[in-house]
Amino acid sequence: MVAFKLGSNNRLLTVLYVILLVLIFVAYDGETSNVAYFEAFKPVGKNAKKVAIIGAGIGGASTAYYLSKAFANSSVHLQTTIYERSFHIGGRCRALEIPYGNRTYIVEMGASIFVDVNYHMMNATKEFGFKFKKPPADMRVGIWDGEQFVFEESKWYYLNVLKVLWKYGLAPLRVKTMTRDKVNRFLSVYNLPSPFTDMLLLSSALGLESEPQHTAEHYLKNLNNVYHPYLSHFVEPATRVNYASNLDDIHALGGFISLAPEGAKGIEGGNYQVMVEFVNRSGATVKLGNAVKSVKKIDERGETKYEVVGSDEKAEVFDAVVLAAPIQFTNIHFENINVDFPEIPYRTLHVTFVIGQLSSKYFKHSSHESLPEYILTTRTSTKFNSIGTSHILPDGNSIIKIFSEKELMDGDLDELFERWSWVHKKVWKAYPQLLPNQTYPPVKIEDGFYYVNSFEPFISTMETEAVSGSNIARLIHKRWAKVDIKAKL
Ligand SMILES: Cc1cc2nc3c(=O)[nH]c(=O)nc-3n(C[C@H](O)[C@H](O)[C@H](O)COP(=O)(O)OP(=O)(O)OC[C@H]3O[C@@H](n4cnc5c(N)ncnc54)[C@H](O)[C@@H]3O)c2cc1C
Ligand SMILES: *[C@@H]1O[C@H](CO)[C@@H](O)[C@H](O)[C@H]1NC(C)=O
Ligand SMILES: *[C@@H]1O[C@H](CO)[C@@H](O)[C@H](O)[C@H]1NC(C)=O
Ligand SMILES: *[C@@H]1O[C@H](CO)[C@@H](O)[C@H](O)[C@H]1NC(C)=O
Ligand SMILES: *[C@@H]1O[C@H](CO)[C@@H](O)[C@H](O)[C@H]1NC(C)=O
Ligand SMILES: *[C@@H]1O[C@H](CO)[C@@H](O)[C@H](O)[C@H]1NC(C)=O
Repeated sequence: MVAFKLGSNNRLLTVLYVILLVLIFVAYDGETSNVAYFEAFKPVGKNAKKVAIIGAGIGGASTAYYLSKAFANSSVHLQTTIYERSFHIGGRCRALEIPYGNRTYIVEMGASIFVDVNYHMMNATKEFGFKFKKPPADMRVGIWDGEQFVFEESKWYYLNVLKVLWKYGLAPLRVKTMTRDKVNRFLSVYNLPSPFTDMLLLSSALGLESEPQHTAEHYLKNLNNVYHPYLSHFVEPATRVNYASNLDDIHALGGFISLAPEGAKGIEGGNYQVMVEFVNRSGATVKLGNAVKSVKKIDERGETKYEVVGSDEKAEVFDAVVLAAPIQFTNIHFENINVDFPEIPYRTLHVTFVIGQLSSKYFKHSSHESLPEYILTTRTSTKFNSIGTSHILPDGNSIIKIFSEKELMDGDLDELFERWSWVHKKVWKAYPQLLPNQTYPPVKIEDGFYYVNSFEPFISTMETEAVSGSNIARLIHKRWAKVDIKAKL
C-alpha cells in the first residue's frame, strides 16, 4: 500500500488526479460523440425534452405514438413516460376472455366499433397487421318499447327497405343524407393546416357549430321537420345504445354520430391491441399500476416545468404533461395550475354479460330462434337500453351483452332469460352526457400542459380521442420546433 505524505505535495496530486479524470472522460466520449466532459454526467443531452402522459387509453396511447413520429428525425430528443393507474393498456377499450366449452371467446366490455372513415383506427389496424372481426351472419335488429317490438327486421334486405318506407316514408332518407353531410364536414379534421387549441373554434372551423348547440330532438323535429315516429323508433334507439341518452338530452352532433355506424368494424382479439401497439411503438416508458397523485407547475431557471408525483411516491420533473383521462376521475391534486373550468358530467353505464338463452315469453315471441339478435329500445323501455348477441355457442346458448342504466339483479335476469348460467358485470363512467351548449374544457390548460379529453363533450369515440391525441402531439412538436431549427443551424 502506498501512503501519501501529507504536505504541499497533496495539492499537486489532487490537480493531477482531476486532469487524469478529465482525460479519461474526453477520450471515452470521443469515441462516439463530441459531448463535452461535463455533459457526460447528464443522463440526457442538451436538446432532451421530457413528456409525461397521464392515462394509457386511446387518448394517451395515440399521443405517445404520434409524438414519437413527429420527433422521429428531430434533434430534440424526446423522452416520454406514460403513467397508468390500472394494470392494463386501453382504458375504456377492454376485452373480456370467456372460456366456454373447448375455446375462449373474446368480447368487448367497452368501446367495440369504429367505422371506415375513422382513419386513425383504420390505418393502425392495417399498419399493425390486425384482422377485423368477422361480422356474424343474419343479425337482425328489433326495437323494443318495454311492452312489444315496434319494429323487427326480417332476414331479407329488400323486405326491410319496403317495411321502413311503408312505415316511415322518406324520413330515413332525409336523416341519412344529413348524417352523411355531418360526417363529411367532420372529415376536414384530418386536413387542418395547423393544430387547434380550442374546441369551440374547431367546431366552427368544421362547420359543426350549431349541432352541439341543440338537442337532437329540437334539431331534427323542429328545425328539420323529420317525421316523429321515425325519431322515436330508430334515431332514439341509436342514441340510447351509443350514448345511453334520449333525443331530448343529447346534442344533435351526438345524434348524428350514433347514426353513422355504416361499415361498423371491430378488431379480432380486442380493440385495445391498437393501444398496446401505439404504446409499444412510441418507445415510451410505461408505468403500469402507477396513478399520478399530483402535478405541480414549477419554475426551473426561468423555464416552466411540471413536477409529477405517482402513487410510487417518486417525483419527476417534465417539460410537458398530457392529461389523457377525464379530469374529475383522476383524483390528481393540481398545484399552481388553473383547472378551474366547468366539469363535464359523465354517464354511468352497466354492462352485463350473460351466458344463456333469452326468454321468448318475456319478448312475446313464439320461439327464441325468432328473436332478433340485436334488441334496441325506445325511451319507454326502462329495464335495459340494448341487448346484443356477441356469440352463438355450439350448445344453443349465446353470450349476450346488455347495456343498462341500473344494475341488473338476478331477478331481472330470471325475467329476461329462459335460462342463464353465468354473469359478468362491469360499470363504466362511459362517456359524457352530450348535453347542448356545454363549455368545452381547454385543449391547452397551461403552456406545456394539455388535455386530450377536452374533445369528449364534442364527440366521444376511440377515433376522436386519437384525433385529439395526434393534435396534441402536433402542438407539442410546434412548441419545440424552434429548438429544432436552432439546433440545425
Ligand atoms: C361501454 C362503452 C361502449 C363504448 N362504445 C364505443 C364504441 O363502440 N366505439 C367508440 O369509438 N367508442 C365507444 N365508447 C367510448 C370510448 O370508449 C371512449 O371515447 C374512449 O375509449 C376514451 O378514451 P380515452 O383514452 O380518452 O380515455 P380512457 O379510455 O378512459 O383512458 C383513461 C386512462 O387513464 C387512466 N387514469 C385515470 N386517472 C389516472 C391517474 N391519476 N394516473 C394514471 N392513470 C390514470 C385510466 O385508468 C384509463 O386507463 C364506449 C365506451 C364505453 C364505456
Ligand atoms: C425519418 O427518417 C426516416 C428515414 O430516413 C423516414 O423513413 C421517415 O419518414 C422520417 N420521418 C419523419 C417524421 O420525417
Ligand atoms: C370444439 O367443439 C365443437 C363441438 O362442440 C366441435 O365442432 C369443434 O370441432 C371443437 N373444436 C376443437 C378445436 O376441438
Ligand atoms: C391514413 O393512411 C393514408 C394512406 O397512407 C394517409 O394518407 C393518411 O394521412 C392516414 N391518416 C391518418 C389519420 O393516419
Ligand atoms: C345554445 O346556445 C345558442 C346560442 O346562444 C342558442 O341559440 C341555443 O338556443 C342554446 N341551446 C339550448 C338548448 O339552450
Ligand atoms: C415492444 O414489443 C416488443 C415485442 O414484444 C418488445 O420486445 C419491446 O421491448 C417492446 N418495446 C417497448 C418500448 O415496450
